[in-house]
Amino acid sequence: MSNQTEKMEVKDAVLEVAGLCKYFPLYSTGVIRRQIGMLRAVDNVSFTLKKGKTIALVGESGCGKTTTARTILRA
Ligand SMILES: Nc1ncnc2c1ncn2[C@@H]1O[C@H](COP(=O)(O)OP(=O)(O)O)[C@@H](O)[C@H]1O
Ligand SMILES: [Mg+2]
Repeated sequence: MSNQTEKMEVKDAVLEVAGLCKYFPLYSTGVIRRQIGMLRAVDNVSFTLKKGKTIALVGESGCGKTTTARTILRA
């Protein structure tokens, strides 16, 4: 990719997401709750939203759509 093309792409980007991850700790049930692993709700998501364009995040329930949006918004 030429330097000029790269500059235009950055200028046209409204939102750039690169390698987004969000892991939630998984705990055992019972009296002593220990962390037993991590739930990888979002794992390495990348996309660019360009000026004047629309993108849709599509997938089955629980695949991480809401977590992707919330993590970007830090909400
Ligand atoms: N606050 C949270 N704590 C633990 N696990 C969560 C939390 N929020 C979402 N998850 C888990 O992360 C995964 C993705 O959920 P979510 O982003 O809500 O999916 P979608 O919006 O695509 O239905 C699910 O397995 C869900 O149970
Ligand atoms: Mg959702």
